[in-house]
Amino acid sequence: MAQTRFDLAVIGGGPAGYVAAARAARLGGKVALVERDGLGGTCLNRGCIPTKTLIHGASVLAAVSGAAAWGVSCGGRPVMDLAALLARKDQVVAGLAQGVSRLLAAAGVTVFSGLGQVPAPETVTVSGPGGQERLSARNILLCLGARPTLPPIPGLDLPGVVTSDALLDASDVPDTLAVIGGGVIGMEFACLFASLGSAVTVIEAAERILPMVDEELQKRLIPLWKRQGVTVVRGAAVSGIVPRGDMLAVRHAGRGGETETVCRKVLAAVGRRPAPVDGIVALPGLVREGPFVAVDAGMRTSIPGVFAAGDLTPGPMLAHVASAEGMVAAANAMGGNEEMDYEAIPACIYTVPEIAGVGLTEEQAAGRGLAVAVGRATYGANGRAQTLGEPVGLVKLVADAADGRILGAHLFGAQASELVAEAALAVRNRLTVRQLAATVHSHPSLSETLAEAARSLLGEQSHAA
Ligand code: NAI
Repeated sequence: MAQTRFDLAVIGGGPAGYVAAARAARLGGKVALVERDGLGGTCLNRGCIPTKTLIHGASVLAAVSGAAAWGVSCGGRPVMDLAALLARKDQVVAGLAQGVSRLLAAAGVTVFSGLGQVPAPETVTVSGPGGQERLSARNILLCLGARPTLPPIPGLDLPGVVTSDALLDASDVPDTLAVIGGGVIGMEFACLFASLGSAVTVIEAAERILPMVDEELQKRLIPLWKRQGVTVVRGAAVSGIVPRGDMLAVRHAGRGGETETVCRKVLAAVGRRPAPVDGIVALPGLVREGPFVAVDAGMRTSIPGVFAAGDLTPGPMLAHVASAEGMVAAANAMGGNEEMDYEAIPACIYTVPEIAGVGLTEEQAAGRGLAVAVGRATYGANGRAQTLGEPVGLVKLVADAADGRILGAHLFGAQASELVAEAALAVRNRLTVRQLAATVHSHPSLSETLAEAARSLLGEQSHAA
């Protein structure tokens, strides 16, 4: 067993791990990365990238279906070839996975395939098909990620009940789909399958779906989704699933007592939990925070020389947060002193239409005792939205009433996931409403909605809804 001394050994090659490994190597470190599955982690292999490819495919179908409105004749009803869409998704994933490999090679990171474990201080073992290898590392970074949780609901093991991993490779589009859980995964898959032709019922235990989304946006979105074929049932905890002929009956508590939704397929999207560290890290003294590994702002765990980043640690379970944390951990492992800042994290939900937000919502700002002023702009009054045939959308800008500082922006509508980047820059850099309004935005563009929301706060709105 050969022994190599590394400055940093990273366990887990997802968005936290591979970004951290590349950064530490570029800072001059000798870096090892251990991954037992595909490089890119959940985001690339089973999450962000495959789902967004499928969602784009469904939007192409919708665009072609509506092409006549633009004078384009397609000759008959367009149909989705699901196998071809899945092949396209696999191609996108494979291309990006090769990109991650090339990036790591170019940075000089040594990649090991197999299960990484920490049996002793400054030691990482890699158990792969060819046996076990032992690495010596001055610093260790744990980026083990998260996995879907399945609560003890009877019937979750029935055929036809799946998690999002399985639905990514579905061989057909069910005529009816029940989604347990109105979180991000549940709502994205609900809109995806509705776009592909399923009648979808989302069953959510809490009184609110997507708790992080501004309440006013939610109220507007639920009727839109209903028209698309997504029915949202709230305040309804699922208690069990039973076979009903060749269908499945999902039992849930309703306002009027127990009721059931009968469907062809069930997606369980009831949350994700950090991967277990027991069995991976044998060092004593690793402090936890609930199911997470506790870290300080520099992503240091309670054990000197051991860092953690990504879904394993508290904080939003988002790929871009994982990468930002990984970069902080890498810099600190290489002798730096960086800290994570969670104040301006954009979050995007790829429903139809897209939802995005950054910073505080009106409710959150009020919860902190801040006096806020809210500016609004609609897509209906935006020229670019009309040229795109996307007149449905709303932008809300939340500002500190005392000094005009932008505290948050929350929006839904076409390309909301792109528009939120400008708002993130504003929140991160403590810009004011006046500075945003005074920034010239190109015309016609959807970005004008942000400037318009800022002007509405100043009482200078130029395009009323
Ligand atoms: P989640 O925690 O966001 O939502 C799960 C929902 O299931 C909750 O609203 C919960 O109340 C509900 N639930 C639990 N048990 C239930 C029951 N018995 N009956 C009915 N409802 C029940 O988890 P989700 O959607 O699985 O997402 C996991 C993580 O992945 C999130 O942290 C999310 O941020 C991340 N993610 C991010 C994406 C993005 O940024 N676009 C895309 C997909 C996932």
